[in-house]
Amino acid sequence: MATNRTFTMLKPDSVEKGHIGAILEKINASGFRIVAMKLTQMTKSDAETFYEIHKERPFFGELVEYMTRGPIVAAILEKENAVEDFRTLIGATNPADAAEGTIRKLYAASIGENAVHGSDSDENAAIEGAFHFSGREMF
Ligand code: RTP
Ligand code: MG
Repeated sequence: MATNRTFTMLKPDSVEKGHIGAILEKINASGFRIVAMKLTQMTKSDAETFYEIHKERPFFGELVEYMTRGPIVAAILEKENAVEDFRTLIGATNPADAAEGTIRKLYAASIGENAVHGSDSDENAAIEGAFHFSGREMF
């Protein structure tokens, strides 16, 4: 995958609260092109693999529980400087620290349930995109 791509998930809380449309509107308005997108639900094993880097953290069990409790919107997004610009658009992990106008400031309830995921590097964007999408689902 090219380095001008990032991977995102609108997490279960965003889907439950009916925020899919509003969040996608912000993503579009910020200049990201949708390369791939679907509504899907992660299994426990999917979430444990996806968030393996956090497996020793005290919140790991809660994180897996949260991310598997309902459907998510998974998507690959394209834009120049996609990874960094998308992290700016979503805001800090803890919505209490997130800048005004960011997706987490607007839609996240807490550090644990924070509305949206954004890849933290080009390398992880490629790994995470390939985790959820086959080549024929990318446009
Ligand atoms: P993400 O990977 O989901 O985009 O979030 P992030 O980079 O901003 O934060 P990260 O450190 O990678 O944490 C992954 C997710 O774990 C949950 N979390 N809970 N209870 C807590 O203290 C805590 N800390 C992190 C959040 O859902 C966070 O997005
Ligand atoms: Mg992260």
